[in-house]
Amino acid sequence: MEDLKYLSGFGSEFASEDPRKPGALPVGQNSPQRCAYGLYAEQLSGSAFTAPRHDNKRSWLYRIRPSVIHKPFKRSNVARYLTHNWDEADPDPNQSRWYPFDIPSSKQVDFVGGLHTVCGAGDPRSRHGIAIHVYLCNDSMRNSAFYSSDGDFLIVPQQGVLNITTEFGKMEVRPNEIAVIQQGMRFSVAVNGPTRGYILEVFDGHFKLPDLGPIGANGLANPRDFLTPVAHYDDRDIPGFKIVNKYQGALFEAEQNHSPFDVVAWHGNYVPYKYDLGNFMVINSVSFDHCDPSIFTVLTCSSVKPGVAIADFVIFPPRWSVQENTFRPPYYHRNCMSEFMGLILGSYEAKEGGFLPGGASLHSMMTPHGPDDKCFNAASQAALVPQKIAVGTQAFMFESSLSMAITKWGAETCQKLDAKYYECWQNLPKLFTDQLDV
Ligand SMILES: [Fe+2]
Repeated sequence: MEDLKYLSGFGSEFASEDPRKPGALPVGQNSPQRCAYGLYAEQLSGSAFTAPRHDNKRSWLYRIRPSVIHKPFKRSNVARYLTHNWDEADPDPNQSRWYPFDIPSSKQVDFVGGLHTVCGAGDPRSRHGIAIHVYLCNDSMRNSAFYSSDGDFLIVPQQGVLNITTEFGKMEVRPNEIAVIQQGMRFSVAVNGPTRGYILEVFDGHFKLPDLGPIGANGLANPRDFLTPVAHYDDRDIPGFKIVNKYQGALFEAEQNHSPFDVVAWHGNYVPYKYDLGNFMVINSVSFDHCDPSIFTVLTCSSVKPGVAIADFVIFPPRWSVQENTFRPPYYHRNCMSEFMGLILGSYEAKEGGFLPGGASLHSMMTPHGPDDKCFNAASQAALVPQKIAVGTQAFMFESSLSMAITKWGAETCQKLDAKYYECWQNLPKLFTDQLDV
């Protein structure tokens, strides 16, 4: 494993230069008549040129060849279960839970070939919507790179380390870390053995840190804990190198004869980054009642409605539970948002069985959900002493204001849907009595 270096901060104006080529980054301007070392200048725009300054995202890349040197794109079918057709299966409002998705073992599958869309809503053409994918792979991408023209990828590894080479440099991302690779950024993923994880793709805009309101200037995910790679160039001629593009929900391939990871220096605020979920500073009730899960928001992609997210990325980390005279687990709930959950490791408090690492659940808009009977019965009787909960676990939620549809792969083909999920609530007892004091 290489000893990788990173730049620290979220949304910062970064600058990075491969130490093998000092002075590669122009000083005082973006586009000199001739760049140092014969490099080409190329801007990658992540927002409209005229976006307000606080939302304006762009980076300048100084590269050996401009990205435009490639043969025409042709339709590719390397990931046959990647789709944005939300009408493949009938709408299904039921609580859905999937057993762990199978990682291929009989054939070699790389990160892109292993992309499977589970559910989603909206359309990248109108720049509004999300897609939730899982990646199930066992092989490294060789002489190929991927980028999405449709949206930003928030990648949540569950099993296996991802060694991600990007145009901006290299990142190593382990389970309990996440990576965000934004629209248009080219990357390649190397893995070592069976590898599985989740992806939240957002079409509307970029992820931000949530506002903290009365919490103050610090807490939840702190900006300094986000890490961006440093410039590292690859000056190789590679005949037949494939650039795979996700465009309007379909994949396309174009060949070129060199590595696209030939950026010698770059600067800007539109960058890939990673974050260790272990650095999340948890806020919670220290008196009574269960807080809404928004206190656990790591990143949010906001909609145009104030306070309403296209999608939030929320985690349930190890923490102390100290509330008194309270039912401590999550409350019974119906929500005008859709809640997709996954489990990175361990077991989730409200459902000790059935919801397993590498599996998932979806509680759709206004569909009731909450603790199963075992959890309810135990928590209703438990002595409310301080307790460290979720030790050794990490569950997460992609919560969206959009009403998502499950793909045919998610509903049928994957064969992981648990038809008996609803049973976990059927034995909740009727406790109603004539007694005022229970
Ligand atoms: Fe909920």
